[in-house]
Amino acid sequence: MADGKTGTTKVLMEETRIFEPPKALAENCNAWQWAKKKGFKTEKEMRAWCGEHYLEFWDEMAKTYADWYEPYTQVMDDSEKPYFKWFIGGKINMFYNAVERHIKAGKGKRVAYHFIPEATDQPERAYTYQEIYETVNKLANGLKSLGVKKGDRISIYMPMLPETVMAMLACAKIGAIHSLVFSGFSSKGFGDRVQDCEAKVVFTADGFYRRGKPMPLKPQADEGVKDAASVKNVIVLKRTGLEVPWTEGRDVWFHELVDKQSADCATEVMDAEERLFILYTSGTTGKPKGIEHAHGGYCVGPAYTCKWVFDLNEDDIYWCTADVGWITGHSYVAYGPLCLGITSVMYEGSPDYPDFGRWYKIIQDYKVTVFYTAPTAVRMLMKQGNEWPEKFDRSSVRLLGSVGEPLNPEAYIWYRKYFGNEISPIMDTWWQTESGCHVISPLPMTPCKPGSVAYPLPGFNTTIYDEEGNEVPLGEGGNIVNPTPWPSMLRAFYKDEVRYKKEYWDMYWKVKPGTYLAGDKATRDKDGYWFVQGRIDDVLSVAGHRIANAEVESSLVAHKDVAEAAVIGKPDEIKGEAIIAFVILKEGVKTSDDLAKALKTHVRTTMGPLAIPAGVYFVDDLPKTRSGKIMRRVIKAKALGNPTGDTSALANPEAVDYIPLI
Ligand code: PRX
Repeated sequence: MADGKTGTTKVLMEETRIFEPPKALAENCNAWQWAKKKGFKTEKEMRAWCGEHYLEFWDEMAKTYADWYEPYTQVMDDSEKPYFKWFIGGKINMFYNAVERHIKAGKGKRVAYHFIPEATDQPERAYTYQEIYETVNKLANGLKSLGVKKGDRISIYMPMLPETVMAMLACAKIGAIHSLVFSGFSSKGFGDRVQDCEAKVVFTADGFYRRGKPMPLKPQADEGVKDAASVKNVIVLKRTGLEVPWTEGRDVWFHELVDKQSADCATEVMDAEERLFILYTSGTTGKPKGIEHAHGGYCVGPAYTCKWVFDLNEDDIYWCTADVGWITGHSYVAYGPLCLGITSVMYEGSPDYPDFGRWYKIIQDYKVTVFYTAPTAVRMLMKQGNEWPEKFDRSSVRLLGSVGEPLNPEAYIWYRKYFGNEISPIMDTWWQTESGCHVISPLPMTPCKPGSVAYPLPGFNTTIYDEEGNEVPLGEGGNIVNPTPWPSMLRAFYKDEVRYKKEYWDMYWKVKPGTYLAGDKATRDKDGYWFVQGRIDDVLSVAGHRIANAEVESSLVAHKDVAEAAVIGKPDEIKGEAIIAFVILKEGVKTSDDLAKALKTHVRTTMGPLAIPAGVYFVDDLPKTRSGKIMRRVIKAKALGNPTGDTSALANPEAVDYIPLI
């Protein structure tokens, strides 16, 4: 992580609008029911108590929302900071909590997912908890027949399908550790992650649908695993019927593997701290970091927040639009709603297929009550005009969620009006791959301010520190920190202890050991409402996804014509940030529009469509420090027409002049 410097950012804009939630919701929501039972008079009092007594609070949540094979004897152990352990001695399994216990409770007929294919001529289909239970048991037996054992890593490179969740659950069931890679990643991105976690088995699909057309995925998966010696089998789901290249002895059809197996399979009894999954996310350096999460804590955080923040109950129809390959999909498409036995909608494709009415139509058809998406999608739909939502009945929606980046007030008002019927409160949830569940968010009874994520949730002592580790007063900016641990927190980076400590714990180690540095800066206004201001490290946020500047730069310099590259984020109305690249070509190579296009294609093939630069500018030099570090801060300021600030550390200040205004 950078040096964590935040400057002394003040709250620039005072937001005065306050949206009160509907009275009936505020009074009856799950969170307030709990508060009333405990005798709290105000939400503030409740949040404060839960922070102060956080161990007692999490103990109650763990007992309320998770079922344990054997109870734990200690809630949390911090004797080896920054390696916090939760629910010591407890035995548990995520699959048992997400599926098996609902079958035991006679709720197998409940629908877990209403699956909606992208192609409008394919049938929509309901998957019950019972069906998922049986298929996962067979799949788990199938994995065992391939030699998969507890602790083995399994990479999952699959599109948005119920089978993807079933693959996750099958791993959880037998104690294998899954690692999903978003299917929009390139083969290289996928392959790097497979190699890093030394996956024994890979799940993929023959292809997926994009804008109505079947697109191949298996060839990319093959390319990705070609140098991964650890991979013994590739399990292929038939989704599109596209012809696929086949490696005899290694490749196995998903359906053939499942069909052969018995539906009886014992669920592995896991220690609470044993790992459930690894999910890679972008850090400061180009190399993605493998965030590890544990069974015990993960059975608690997503379920608690689904219950409290989204107020989910069994009569809800819930839809989170995130792809299951990201953390939002892990916690809020898969594990959180499943642990509560909720019925979700799962949609395979893009929001604009066959037209921009698709999402509203799904809301209308399934009478969706709770809807969770990202600001980039809201802004994209807002741009298409109000006539799209106006064509459909959206009156079923009672609560909205947002995640991934700040929901700017204009988008907030539009989202509330056109998705929320001007009454549904918006839970703007701040959290991270590392946190595993929501950390800062309104609750359904919280009066909300547009653009604000309200306050830290019960159980969290999240606050804002200056560089010295002092809490900043209201109105001042600083680093978001968690001085106390929480159950669904990350446990480690896969095989990288040094970076784990450096990125999150070193910053305040001398003053307050065990303080988690989130990597975002924020401010609070005079009423204590939180406003997230963005990352402190060199990580871009493109359409709500984290992409390290260094990753795109290393992709560019891997091109034969490129000598050096610097990448910055330019504010973008829809995506939050657009990637802009400044490139120095190798001696003798001529600049051209074709070369700029070729570089974009190169990034697409090496990293995937999310990372494509919106602009490529050829320059003769890039400003650098005396130690040779490219000064992205200065490049960005110059390119955006802002003051470049102190450039005294530059070895080549004249290089600033080469940076064009963009
Ligand atoms: O910068 C914050 C931003 O997304 C980062 C976490 O990214 P990732 O691990 O990919 O997880 C995304 C989904 C949880 C954070 O460090 N972020 C997330 N939620 C918000 C946000 N920024 C502003 N407002 C939010 N609600």
